[in-house]
Amino acid sequence: MKSANSVGPTVIVILGATGDLTWRKLMPGIYNLHLDKWLPKNFAVIGVSRTEMNDEAFREHMQNGVDKFSRRGKADEKDWSEFEKQITYNKGGFDEQSTYDKLEEQIEKYEKEWNAPVTRIFYMAVPPSYFEEIATKLGNSKLVENKELSRIVIEKPFGRDYDSAKKLNDLLHGMYDESQIYRLDHYLGKETVQNILAFRFANAMFEPTWNRNYIDHIQITVSEQLGIGTRGNYYETAGALRDMIQNHILQLLCLIAMEPTVSFDADEVRNKKVDVLNAIRIIKPDEVHLNAVRGQYGPGWIEGEKVIGYRDEQDVNKNSNVETFAAVKFFVDNWRWQGVPFYLRTGKHMNETISVISMQFRPVPHQSFPNSATGNWQPNRLVLNIQPHMGIKLGFQAKRPGLEMLMAPVDMQYDYNESYTSTTPEAYETLLLDIMEGDSTLFMRADQVEAAWKVVMPIIEQWEKNPSTSFPNYAAGMTGPEDAEALIARDGHNWFVTPPKSK
Ligand code: BG6
Repeated sequence: MKSANSVGPTVIVILGATGDLTWRKLMPGIYNLHLDKWLPKNFAVIGVSRTEMNDEAFREHMQNGVDKFSRRGKADEKDWSEFEKQITYNKGGFDEQSTYDKLEEQIEKYEKEWNAPVTRIFYMAVPPSYFEEIATKLGNSKLVENKELSRIVIEKPFGRDYDSAKKLNDLLHGMYDESQIYRLDHYLGKETVQNILAFRFANAMFEPTWNRNYIDHIQITVSEQLGIGTRGNYYETAGALRDMIQNHILQLLCLIAMEPTVSFDADEVRNKKVDVLNAIRIIKPDEVHLNAVRGQYGPGWIEGEKVIGYRDEQDVNKNSNVETFAAVKFFVDNWRWQGVPFYLRTGKHMNETISVISMQFRPVPHQSFPNSATGNWQPNRLVLNIQPHMGIKLGFQAKRPGLEMLMAPVDMQYDYNESYTSTTPEAYETLLLDIMEGDSTLFMRADQVEAAWKVVMPIIEQWEKNPSTSFPNYAAGMTGPEDAEALIARDGHNWFVTPPKSK
């Protein structure tokens, strides 16, 4: 249970402190924890990067990030000046021993000053090519000797495939206990994602229907209007399957498909999730084309503005075979879900930005009403909106007012914004506080990461072996390639379409 006193003296070391992640997410997150009084009295942030900068310039840059990206908007001068005293900056190369020696000195100094042992968190906000080097240098230093009090945080991408993820896990396990390693998937920190667990396990009425006897199929869509922008270098090594499905979307699937937990103990929750990953049917190489569809955006229109195609984006190969859209059909081979298809899809430069899970129920077993009454009949559907608007909607049939017996679909709806007026913490606030408290429930364990890679590997391998001959195959601003419609239409379904926004 979180409480403002549950965090002892803490130093967060951010490696890669001048990068975008620190600027946009980490510092605004830490600052909001400060405003909400979650931070301990004895607290410090040490930024480390190769850029030449003094403490003042770094603080100013961080304040600018908070002003731009904090959910609360521009920082109040008084609050910020109180907070910024806790921030310092070290110029240092990640390959230089002196970088780590200096951190040791600084943390020892804090321990003396605060007269208490200090929890030290090493946050790797760096490109993955530095993970091994930093983890090794830290692992060989005194900085992480105390396994209870030292933690290392790794952002995705955790590996590029099963082998590289396994190699990285093996390296880390040679120096750290699993309990010290926080593999971060920011989706798991989202308020609305955590609400899936509340919805499922804090209510008795849904669980009895949450299985193959009642659910016909499940869809998870994470679509984004944004293209890849300036991230061409990274995206060319990733693609939609690696960037979104292997991690965020499979994690959503786990939350929907997992068995109830006995407790909210970190390992209990993660055991139940990894059981789902291990139960996902591995797609055979010669069946990949029947179960997975890839797409790449060409030029098109987004909200009335003309945008360029993926192959014309900065740092992208003119003949790139990298997918910016992926749709996959999975089955979870266990008692609860046998035979229920899970359709997942994600894409860049799509028609809308939305993350939504839709669970379609089976039709009623017997239709007692005459055909004339049920012309507009639709099976029940439960829709969990993750973003941009959190809400849960249950669609069912009701009699239309009037003298005739006519059915029409209606909705029962829970709208987060209508029910709560307070602003929601950002995923990074939740996750940073969890790391400080030593709670790894929302972080990926080594076996989860590897199991998730195993699930997507056959698709990755087939796609790499057989470059697409049809890219680009969807115009920016559309819902993806036609083959994705066919993937679901072959089973007699349609992708869930969000109703037009009411004005
Ligand atoms: C990141 C991906 O992990 O998640 C991005 O690398 C993607 O490509 C982003 O845009 C989506 O996150 P959010 O929180 O904006 O939905």
